[in-house]
Amino acid sequence: MKIPDEVIVKAVEKFGTPLYLYSEEEVRERCRFLQAVAKKHYPRCFIAYAYKANSNPALCKIIHEEGLGAEVVSGGELYTALKLGLKASRIVFDGVSKTLDEIEMAVTNEIKLLNVESLDEIKVVGKVARRCNRKISLGVRLNLGVEVSTHDKIATGGRSHKFGLDYRFALKAIKEIVGNSFLEWSGIHFHLGSQIFSPTPYLQALSKVASILRESYEKLGALPSVIDVGGGFGVSYSDEKQDPDLEIFFREIGGKVSEIFSELGSDPPELIIEPGRYIVAKAGILVSRVNYIKENFGRRWLLVDAGMNDFIRPMLYGAKHRIRVIGGRHKVYEKYCIGGPVCESTDVMAVDLELPRVKPGNLIAILDAGAYGYSMASNYNMRPRPPEVLFTEKGELKLIRRRETWEDLLSLAIL
Ligand code: LLP
Repeated sequence: MKIPDEVIVKAVEKFGTPLYLYSEEEVRERCRFLQAVAKKHYPRCFIAYAYKANSNPALCKIIHEEGLGAEVVSGGELYTALKLGLKASRIVFDGVSKTLDEIEMAVTNEIKLLNVESLDEIKVVGKVARRCNRKISLGVRLNLGVEVSTHDKIATGGRSHKFGLDYRFALKAIKEIVGNSFLEWSGIHFHLGSQIFSPTPYLQALSKVASILRESYEKLGALPSVIDVGGGFGVSYSDEKQDPDLEIFFREIGGKVSEIFSELGSDPPELIIEPGRYIVAKAGILVSRVNYIKENFGRRWLLVDAGMNDFIRPMLYGAKHRIRVIGGRHKVYEKYCIGGPVCESTDVMAVDLELPRVKPGNLIAILDAGAYGYSMASNYNMRPRPPEVLFTEKGELKLIRRRETWEDLLSLAIL
């Protein structure tokens, strides 16, 4: 994390707590690194940043400036990407249950790729495209029945999941698309889950894709121009573990894709990846102030001003984020539980965490909170969402989303 303690303190003086603080340098470096690795191992790689990880427009703008496209999963995300001036030809739209409005928006804007997930959806997209008199480029998101070893709430590619089309219907889907003059079959897509640390599941998925492609080539004479392997590249949330070596991911995945196509006598396709967490997780922290300290039945509680409405990963996935006391130099360490202000027993950021002794008023930083932090925040308990601040490359603090106010909380209500 590239944000010094003095900067954190300054940001808090200016914008209060709780507060999301992001490092522009970290975001840009991660974009550049990914692109360099992609270029080295698979030059025809298109990187579509998964907006859901963090859709702050100022951050997305930086990511696009660095040359990444967008992976969106809702009309709201598509609207944001287009508003930021991103070319539609750089946008991939995924989503298991898209509305007619969302499909129409994708069709009329002529986005790069719309990944469909059911035979029903193909019919609907076909009708919308015909009505709009536009041809739309489709990918088929397959459920290949590949299990990954990650938290069960963030695995998506197994047989029990709602995502993707059962791969046994793949040929039927491709046939339907190829037979409709308003649809163009461009790609095969899958997304196996999140927090993946080894390329092995991607390779397993690609082996299954290979036999589907062989069949589609032999029976329909059709091959796609794109293979979209989704996102999921893991990041380490602890000091003990390292981020995965993405050189290995790109080398292995790229190599496998090239091999599949060369066996079919075809040039390598474009490879799409959809990383979210990898780009932004480590670029962000959530800063919170300790309001009170109390001891309940032998447990020492830090009662802080950030809660599960601000950051839900620990409560939803049991995620353990590193937590630091800002300026915490006390030589004595104590064990603390960290509780938020929300009226739920689960609103606990950490249990029995060793920290340098803390006093009321101290600041703590929840690290690696840049991904799935603000984007999953809510107004639960009628709590205004925190502001988002960027620590720029020039060393300035720039407010990139203001704190919500009490009025904001009532602004949509009708009495
Ligand atoms: N593509 C698709 C189709 C996805 O569903 C996702 C994430 C991504 C790309 C980006 O995955 P990433 O590279 O960020 O792992 N809220 C959870 C994570 C849910 C991910 C959902 N899909 C968390 O906080 O861990």
